[in-house]
Amino acid sequence: MNGEVLIRAGIIGLGVGERHISGYERHPNCRVTRLADFSDAKRADVATRHPDRSMTASADEILDDPDIEIVSIASYDQHHYEQVMRAIDAGKHLFVEKPLVLQEDHAHEVRAALRAKPHLRISSNLILRRCPRFLWLRKEIRSGRMGRLFNIDAEYQYGRIHKLISGWRGELPGYSLVMGGAVHMADLVIWLTGDRPVEVTAFGNRIATEGSAFRNFDLVRALVRFESGLVASIGCNGGCVHPHFHRLEVHGTEATFVNGLESAFVYRSRDPGVRPEPITEAYPGVDKGDLLEDFVDAVLHGREPEVGQDAVFDALSLCFAIERAVHSGQPEPVRPI
Ligand SMILES: NC(=O)c1ccc[n+]([C@@H]2O[C@H](COP(=O)([O-])OP(=O)(O)OC[C@H]3O[C@@H](n4cnc5c(N)ncnc54)[C@H](O)[C@@H]3O)[C@@H](O)[C@H]2O)c1
Repeated sequence: MNGEVLIRAGIIGLGVGERHISGYERHPNCRVTRLADFSDAKRADVATRHPDRSMTASADEILDDPDIEIVSIASYDQHHYEQVMRAIDAGKHLFVEKPLVLQEDHAHEVRAALRAKPHLRISSNLILRRCPRFLWLRKEIRSGRMGRLFNIDAEYQYGRIHKLISGWRGELPGYSLVMGGAVHMADLVIWLTGDRPVEVTAFGNRIATEGSAFRNFDLVRALVRFESGLVASIGCNGGCVHPHFHRLEVHGTEATFVNGLESAFVYRSRDPGVRPEPITEAYPGVDKGDLLEDFVDAVLHGREPEVGQDAVFDALSLCFAIERAVHSGQPEPVRPI
């Protein structure tokens, strides 16, 4: 790529969005030119670290800027849909924080709008794919050394209950920890296995946040049946009393992988006298901006990014089925978007 080619990016929402700046600029041909946040205090704070960027309170100024080709949407979840639709309309490539949107009908609208503009690239920050330990595990599964997978337990353990009962997540009626948290585990399981989720049953409760303003389930456990016959428990746990963690157990016919809070192991024997192998690859070992250099490269070369459009919608489709199942109390099909 010619060193002089420059693609300009803008970022809406400067919480995790601030961490997108360095991610984009790891690509030599990308420059983040404008930042939007409707909080005066947040803009002032970010300006101390990035004094040379144009700042605005209005997301529209980024969406309407003809010089900006890539937009990061890192606003509150409830603003994603409208901003995503406007950005597609304006012909921008999109990197959207998870969840892309909150409603199934909105996801269909976004998918249809993208089909009408196939040159636009879209990705979402499903960052666990860059975790060295999970990359190791995926290779191990692909090599056949785990045998045939039959059971997975994947839980997003939040460890930050204060964020659910105060701040925008607590104030948003029905903030969904499935869409905002379990989506990482849904993507992780689909990406690790290459399997297709078919059907879901789910239970939930809100014992841990009882008496607070948080109105949705803070614990959800879903049982997911996959096309191969694999069964996975995929869930989110907002109330756990320990640090943020991605619990993962993967059972194959030849080995079991366990990502523990303190360490990870692979067991290759049922014999209690045989020690499991410690897995030393880093966890989580990722920065929130790690997918962006690849995204810029995908835009510049007109190829699918590492977390491509199908992957974004596959993870969402599974989460919508989990949401339907936990609220209906009935088994629900996964309806691909
Ligand atoms: N990929 C990940 O692992 C990850 C991690 C954290 C957050 N997120 C996602 O990022 C998004 C933001 O979460 P956060 O933790 O950064 O929240 P945050 O509260 O830390 O920051 C959000 C910022 O965006 C601003 N903002 C919100 N809506 C806006 C709008 N419409 N226009 C302009 N500014 C707006 C707020 O003023 C705030 O400064 C959410 O969708 C969240 O799910 C993803």
